Amino acid sequence: MTIAVTGSTGALGTLVIDALAAHVNLDQVVALARDPQRAAHLRERGAQVRAFDYDQPEQLEDALAGVTDLLLISSNAVGQRVDQHRAVIDAARAAGVGRIVYTSALGASDTSLNPVAPDHVETERLLAASGLPHVIVRNGWYSENYLGELENARQHGAVITSAGDGTVASAARADYAAAAAAILVDPDAKPVYELSGDTAWTFDDLAKALAAATGADVEVRRVSADEHRDVLREAGLPEGAIEFVVGVDAAIAQGELGVTTSELAALIGRPTTPLSDTLEAATRA
Ligand SMILES: NC(=O)c1ccc[n+]([C@@H]2O[C@H](COP(=O)([O-])OP(=O)(O)OC[C@H]3O[C@@H](n4cnc5c(N)ncnc54)[C@H](OP(=O)(O)O)[C@@H]3O)[C@@H](O)[C@H]2O)c1
Repeated sequence: MTIAVTGSTGALGTLVIDALAAHVNLDQVVALARDPQRAAHLRERGAQVRAFDYDQPEQLEDALAGVTDLLLISSNAVGQRVDQHRAVIDAARAAGVGRIVYTSALGASDTSLNPVAPDHVETERLLAASGLPHVIVRNGWYSENYLGELENARQHGAVITSAGDGTVASAARADYAAAAAAILVDPDAKPVYELSGDTAWTFDDLAKALAAATGADVEVRRVSADEHRDVLREAGLPEGAIEFVVGVDAAIAQGELGVTTSELAALIGRPTTPLSDTLEAATRA
């Protein structure tokens, strides 16, 4: 078994390699990196490091030589990533990769309001059309997505949301990484996983966790989507980011990110990390 991980220098990829070390010797792991110099520490730990820039398709097939299982961590290059993922899938087929494991998004579907869903749906279609064995791992929200709220809590004592009474079943990035590693070493993995945290928290729960982590009084301000846009515009966010934030809250309001499946805890063999632990760890870091 030779396992390759794209985006190995990213936040999730780094944690996946750490998690893989609990299952296999790292000489069975190929760390694929856009900038191999940034993966030097992985080479020191015994992993092979190969250059792998999605935007250089001519590089990809050779870099996948001998790989049995490929974790394709979705790119962060919104607007380009479907083409990037297509290049990786084409290269994997040409290189004879045995299986692709792809990190999609919880509840990704044509009817999702989540702004990240369309790229994931399209990539899932590419995988289905590729004829390659593959596993879709639909990751729920990272608790780390809310670390920016620590500063808002300290400065403004408020969380602003247009998600209404929606909930978020988030988990720590490290939980999703451990799950990806468990799937990569399991030849009998299911075709699709829907992963989320054990607890669907409300924005009142988030405010309490922020208050506990910061010592500040934190209130929740529930606003309409348009009011939310105004607040974000005043804070200086670019229009694209504003639509992203408001779109995510619309998905949360619709219940898309509050789904608790317990599949993540089952894969990692322990409860998922509570939101409060992630927030508190960040304040200690
Ligand atoms: N579920 C969630 O809550 C959530 C939240 C945020 C993001 N995501 C998704 O999950 C993915 C992993 O999350 P993360 O936290 O690890 O994000 P991240 O730290 O931004 O990692 C993204 C990875 O994509 C790599 N990448 C981007 N363009 C590339 C290219 N042209 N060629 C090769 N690699 C390229 C980056 O390479 P470099 O290391 O060279 O920059 C990086 O390693 C994200 O990319 C995004 O699709 C999910």
